[in-house]
Amino acid sequence: MKNIAVIGTGYVGLVTGVALSEIGHSVICVDIDEQKVASMREGISPIYEPGLSELMKKNYEAGRLSFTTSHEMAFAGADAIYIAVGTPQKEDGTADLRFIESVARNIAEYLADYAVVVTKSTVPVGTNDYIKQYIEKHTDVPFDVVSNPEFLREGSAVHDTFNGDRIVIGSSTGLAASILKEINKPFGIPIFKTDIRSSEMIKYASNAFLATKISFVNEIAALCEKLGANVDDVAQGMGQDKRIGEKFLNAGIGYGGSCFPKDTSALVQIAGNVEHEFTLLKAVIEVNYKQQRLLIDKAREHFDSLRGKTIAMLGTAFKPNTDDMREAASTILARELVLAGANVVAYDPVAMEPARKLFPEAVDFVDSVESALDGADAAFLVTEWDEFKELTPAQYVSFLKEPVLFDGRNCYDLEKMKAAGIEYYSVGRPVVKVEKELV
Ligand code: UDX
Repeated sequence: MKNIAVIGTGYVGLVTGVALSEIGHSVICVDIDEQKVASMREGISPIYEPGLSELMKKNYEAGRLSFTTSHEMAFAGADAIYIAVGTPQKEDGTADLRFIESVARNIAEYLADYAVVVTKSTVPVGTNDYIKQYIEKHTDVPFDVVSNPEFLREGSAVHDTFNGDRIVIGSSTGLAASILKEINKPFGIPIFKTDIRSSEMIKYASNAFLATKISFVNEIAALCEKLGANVDDVAQGMGQDKRIGEKFLNAGIGYGGSCFPKDTSALVQIAGNVEHEFTLLKAVIEVNYKQQRLLIDKAREHFDSLRGKTIAMLGTAFKPNTDDMREAASTILARELVLAGANVVAYDPVAMEPARKLFPEAVDFVDSVESALDGADAAFLVTEWDEFKELTPAQYVSFLKEPVLFDGRNCYDLEKMKAAGIEYYSVGRPVVKVEKELV
């Protein structure tokens, strides 16, 4: 059992802290936000993440998990200090390291005894060396810095922590690597040891590669539409080749969220800093830009003008099982629809509050999918929540004025839509047209 301090209780920090306490360590999570700390002490998780609240409560009550605003208290007796603060994107695409720097200052100030400083936050290659130099300059207490990137997906972060494919440990000393190995052993996940810079790069390269897979399949989807093929079958057929793999080949309205958009831009910048033009990744970003606007293009083709049309927006979160709206396609679609003179009626099972803050004021929010669809000219399916996947064609037919559906996540069977008489546009699959009877 080790004593661990985790700085930052965003989704990475809190999930990491809770998971480390679950495997038996004594964990203290630090956040500068007093209100957040007070509510976590009452067992309220500041983020929506399946399974997190239950584990948080269990380990808090067992005395293995605690929360504080005091760095000094958290660092006392800590064997490891995990940095899990945000690295938001600056206007120029680079990572903003303000929070990392402030944590480094706190560590230098309050470190009392040897500890391993573990960087969980996604940081540009070389940042851990910088953190090390910074702390070294301001304290005589010995410490090591280790890069230990996370690969959690939002919405399944708890599951991913206990079922990851690998744990990457980038260290320049054997002592720090062995402490990290010991901490992580109970997870039973293969550990990959490397140097610090390679570990930092693994995180960016992994996210950039997954984003590339998505943009690639989206380009194939565009071709499928023009050539009469079906991208779902194409992806399935490709994915059966183990060298390609079936995952992350779902065509749709692009990737959003807190990682892919930010990390791809940051990697392009990182490359630029060493005079390397990352042409491939730039194209990946460009494809995603187009993809997030795809449903508007399709709706324009169908209606000619969107002025005065009422569009039911099903889903606002960037993906299901999260209330996260960062870089969500829905925000772009809502803005463009309103600009084009359409009325937007939006519904999301959990992400309506954050959506309200980002969407134009003209957007109406309703509290059920039926109210969103009721009387609308068309529906935009933006987030593939189960609740939407379970909708029947008959429901669309009965609620929509004329059943027209733009599905950004390929949720439904083409034949069933055709049989129900729904005009159905999806991504990379043939359009289902309805033969209008001539009167
Ligand atoms: C991602 C990485 O998966 C994770 O390893 C990293 O730590 C953080 O970034 P996350 O952003 O939570 O996780 O979500 P993920 O499930 O990976 O989806 C990202 C985006 O890609 C979503 O907008 C999703 O809709 C989109 N996506 C994903 C596709 O469009 N097609 C796919 O096949 C997969």
